Amino acid sequence: MDPTEAVGILDEQLERGRALIAAAGTIEALEEAKVALLGRKAPISSVQSSLGSLPPDVRRDVGRRTNEAFAELRTALEARRVEIEEGGDLERLEADRVDVTLPGRRLRGGSLHPLTIVEAEIVDIFTRIGYRVVEGPEVEDEWHNFDALNIPPDHPARTSMDTTFLDVPDHPELVLRTHTSPMQIRTMENQEPPVYVIVPGRVYRNEEITAKNMPVFHQVEGLAVDEGISFADLNGTLLTFYRELLGPEREVRLTPSFFPFVEPGCQVEVSCFVCGGSGCRTCAYTGWIETMGAGMVHPTVLENVGYDPERYTGFAFGGGYDRLAMIRFGIPDIRLLWENDVRFLEQFEGVA
Ligand code: PHE
Repeated sequence: MDPTEAVGILDEQLERGRALIAAAGTIEALEEAKVALLGRKAPISSVQSSLGSLPPDVRRDVGRRTNEAFAELRTALEARRVEIEEGGDLERLEADRVDVTLPGRRLRGGSLHPLTIVEAEIVDIFTRIGYRVVEGPEVEDEWHNFDALNIPPDHPARTSMDTTFLDVPDHPELVLRTHTSPMQIRTMENQEPPVYVIVPGRVYRNEEITAKNMPVFHQVEGLAVDEGISFADLNGTLLTFYRELLGPEREVRLTPSFFPFVEPGCQVEVSCFVCGGSGCRTCAYTGWIETMGAGMVHPTVLENVGYDPERYTGFAFGGGYDRLAMIRFGIPDIRLLWENDVRFLEQFEGVA
């Protein structure tokens, strides 16, 4: 092989190589091109093995060109290999694409406890007719829980209410409030008439735990004291309240009853909102559901807080709403209200 022929082969192989490499679309095709261009039988290899027979004066030059041709082809092969591999990755990524633009799983908001729902409705109704909401301490003293409410120390109400006395050194007067009525006293002690307040909150009675009773439950108290307040105002207020809360067909029935802090006192019943008054299991086939105690504020109570009973009169009412929530939502056991089982709680309305 003469030097001219050798150089011609090198140029030709470089050109052929560039074309072959560019045309190779897969790693396999690239391997074939590599063998054809750089393999033992490749034309460029025959140039290399003929170098020894070239005249020494051109051998160096042709040798250098041969090395350069090898190097260029190797570099081009390697660059193309990377290209093909990356292209494959892209294809794979494309095939593996997950469409995350589909609607995701919604995060569930919390829901309100059934007692919170009922309490919010009660508060809403009374605030709309001008009442203020106040809350008071659950640890009370006997003065507010009993004495100021005209319940003297030997009165059976102290024991019939199953009072929990607290064991606090030097404070034998402390009890867990057995009703929300002590807030009648605290409110009147702190302001002059007119008074229009409701008091929702927890109360405590030392009773056995059953499906219907808990030693902790919830009451809402109402108190209105002003000039010229009559029993008719009490009646109208309660009728308005229950029709708002339980439906426009509800009727209210007041029957005589006794509480030391009201005179006259009454039981408040509302026509059954399950059967409409015709009689069902919920109302024990009477058509009526007992909901509250109520009455005209006793003059002695007004005197106890420094109000003039000749000038001011008032009415008060108070009763539990755990049972209302249970009937309303069909909750069969009061203990469910306390267990905080999410499967129970999530059935109620969410926070809007
Ligand atoms: N506090 C009484 C109770 O818990 C209810 C009541 C409140 C009665 C206000 C009359 C007036 O039974």
